[in-house]
Amino acid sequence: MHSGDRMRCLTRCSIFKAVAAMMLVVVVKICAAELDVAYYDFRCPDALAIVQGGVHAAMQRDARAPASLLRLHFHDCFVNGCDGSNLLDDRPGFVGEKTAAPNLNSARGFEIIDEIKQQLEDACPKTVSCADIVAAAARDAVFLSGGPFWDVELGRRDALTTSSQAAVNSIPSPRFNVPQLIKSFNAVGLDKKDVVALSGSHTIGIARCASFQARLYNQGNSGRPDSSLEKHYLAELQNRCPQSGDGNQTAFLDPCTPTTFDNQYYKDLQAGRGLLFSDEVLETTSGTTLKLVELYATDQTAFFTDFVSSMLKMASIHVKADSEGEIRRNCRIPNSVNAKGGT
Ligand code: HEM
Repeated sequence: MHSGDRMRCLTRCSIFKAVAAMMLVVVVKICAAELDVAYYDFRCPDALAIVQGGVHAAMQRDARAPASLLRLHFHDCFVNGCDGSNLLDDRPGFVGEKTAAPNLNSARGFEIIDEIKQQLEDACPKTVSCADIVAAAARDAVFLSGGPFWDVELGRRDALTTSSQAAVNSIPSPRFNVPQLIKSFNAVGLDKKDVVALSGSHTIGIARCASFQARLYNQGNSGRPDSSLEKHYLAELQNRCPQSGDGNQTAFLDPCTPTTFDNQYYKDLQAGRGLLFSDEVLETTSGTTLKLVELYATDQTAFFTDFVSSMLKMASIHVKADSEGEIRRNCRIPNSVNAKGGT
């Protein structure tokens, strides 16, 4: 479905959804004590429409925007929970997540969140958290790229602080093997099925040569390329990323359909065309991950169903209780610093 049609469908569905959300509120409160799909229905009725509009506008300007927004949500949730901690700018005396190795020269989409936040502050001051904006934007990014739709749970509070080290400790490396990936997901309450389903996010977006260069020339210090790379794909990547070339050059994570959210990523893995080492190992390691890759490669509906359930799990990691957080006025600065006119 074209993204314009998807926007119209969202509008048509909104009245039904508002009623359904009111009915669902009781059920959801039982399932997820701190989050609620109807959280803004009365507090800021246009909140979700404003987020959707912002994501739609951003993707008209930049085809990569949905991928960057989806990744922002992942990097938010894995580090101290989904609390907008990765949106905080460094300032004198504070080094946050943005300049930590997994994000530096890599995480993007912050301006889109700023634009949406500004519109929300105009519509409903001090009401919609930055963490909720990121969660809703990630949902819209997936849907507007052709992926599944789901009701996003809301009511997160924004972190008061964070640290660079927290990002380094919690965000999995593209050089991780399957046991390391599972360990890193287990640390935030996710399991191996979540690893495989959520890695399917790499059906959209881009990576820098620095994230996979070692595979092309010297996998595991062997002096040779990773033998799991299909030979034409390897040649293509070596051409894009010369051994001593610029690590900030980029390649599509899914070379076949880079802006469409589909199950092509898993077919790529089966063809030896997984870009990151952490992608390809899901297929080359026998066991559960391989079985799931096989399932998702042949059954897009199974992928979408599992992806949505894993996204809901990820989106509810360590949601902050009232006093632990705040509704930031500016997603880049804690309110206490903002009030002092700090940087
Ligand atoms: C399983 C462990 C994961 C690892 C090791 C990993 C690693 C990476 C790396 C290294 C990049 C490229 C960064 C760069 O070179 O600048 C990337 C991009 C991306 N990742 Fe992951 N990732 C993982 C899981 C996830 C999850 C769970 C999601 C979302 C739910 C996600 C969404 C994305 C997206 C959409 C991009 C493209 C971003 C853009 O184009 O701006 N990843 N990932």
